[in-house]
Amino acid sequence: MEKVKVGIVGLGRLGRQHAENLAFRIPNCELTAVCSVVEEEVLEVQSKWKIPYGYTAYDEMLKNKELDAIFIASPSGFHCNQIQLALEAGFHVFSEKPLGLYLEEAIAVEKAVKAHPNQIFMLGFMRRYDKSYLAAKEKIERGEIGDPIFIRCYGLDPAAKIDSFLQFAEANYSGGLFLDMAIHDLDLARWYLGTEGKEVWAIGGGYERKEFDALQDAETGAAMVRFENNAIGVFLAGRNCAHGYHIETEIIGTKGSLRIGTVPERNQVVLFNELGAVQECVDGFLERFEQAYRSEVEEFITCILEDRQPAVTVQDGVESTRLGYACKESFEKRQLIHNNPHTVVV
Ligand code: NAI
Repeated sequence: MEKVKVGIVGLGRLGRQHAENLAFRIPNCELTAVCSVVEEEVLEVQSKWKIPYGYTAYDEMLKNKELDAIFIASPSGFHCNQIQLALEAGFHVFSEKPLGLYLEEAIAVEKAVKAHPNQIFMLGFMRRYDKSYLAAKEKIERGEIGDPIFIRCYGLDPAAKIDSFLQFAEANYSGGLFLDMAIHDLDLARWYLGTEGKEVWAIGGGYERKEFDALQDAETGAAMVRFENNAIGVFLAGRNCAHGYHIETEIIGTKGSLRIGTVPERNQVVLFNELGAVQECVDGFLERFEQAYRSEVEEFITCILEDRQPAVTVQDGVESTRLGYACKESFEKRQLIHNNPHTVVV
């Protein structure tokens, strides 16, 4: 195969970014088909970027045998079903996070992926492809902070977009704050600490916007996790960050510590004026993780061409969903939840 021909489903905030990367920025790849339930989106992207095929029905796109791979960027509640259908139809599959909103459906996908070992499957935990997060991983693996024993993560969306997150919570297809937002940090913790979450205590609520309480979702939430190796995790997620999009991670080890993204600066300019020393911050995920989105897509295409599976596996999807769901359950039931990782699929 000279060029991998890809069909993408979902042309929203992130879908368009992925589509643009697939169409123009990834070598050996061709964006051949686009699909969305909204016909105007399909027609607009098709005509703007000269994409040969457009669909409003996902099943129809799966009948296109010119395609090699399906890229899923639809809302989270559709991922599991769309992954399984694409695998059954013989395609390589990339899916956005989270793998699923419920553990049962995530485990069903794990089974489907294992039943199709010759097809590439990759999940969109793009932070693992971000240069700073990768550099931190290398330092941890070289033992530069000793044994990692504590991780603190902030995953905060900008207050300027709080209305859209309220609508998102109302539509109820995101899985809530912990499965939608904190899941990136839960996956990072598993990756950096090399262990799974065992006990979870999560709290939160609506603070700036009380409407979140009525929706049983958190505007701001925090989870404390004890991992199987007794390492500690503290995860703060939220939708009301005044200065922009703030993604920060700290890992403390027995011999040192490291921090990633402590100041979420847009660039290296510092403006000195009557307000003091002012640095602009990034305003969203597309700006902060532009490089990571491109790199993860490049890895997916390279894996197909080199016939090897990527480092982010379906098990990562299952275990992060399990842990995210435990956070959600703890928040909703106001109880400590015992998580049971390592379900074996036969
Ligand atoms: P969005 O709501 O902006 O876009 C969703 C797209 O899917 C729209 O084009 C919509 O018309 C289409 N769609 C809806 N139902 C569909 C169906 N049944 N079949 C086909 N198309 C359908 O959503 P957004 O923000 O782009 O999120 C998409 C996915 O990406 C979500 O799962 C989300 O969790 C994930 N995401 C991941 C991020 C990351 O940093 N890795 C950041 C933002 C989103």
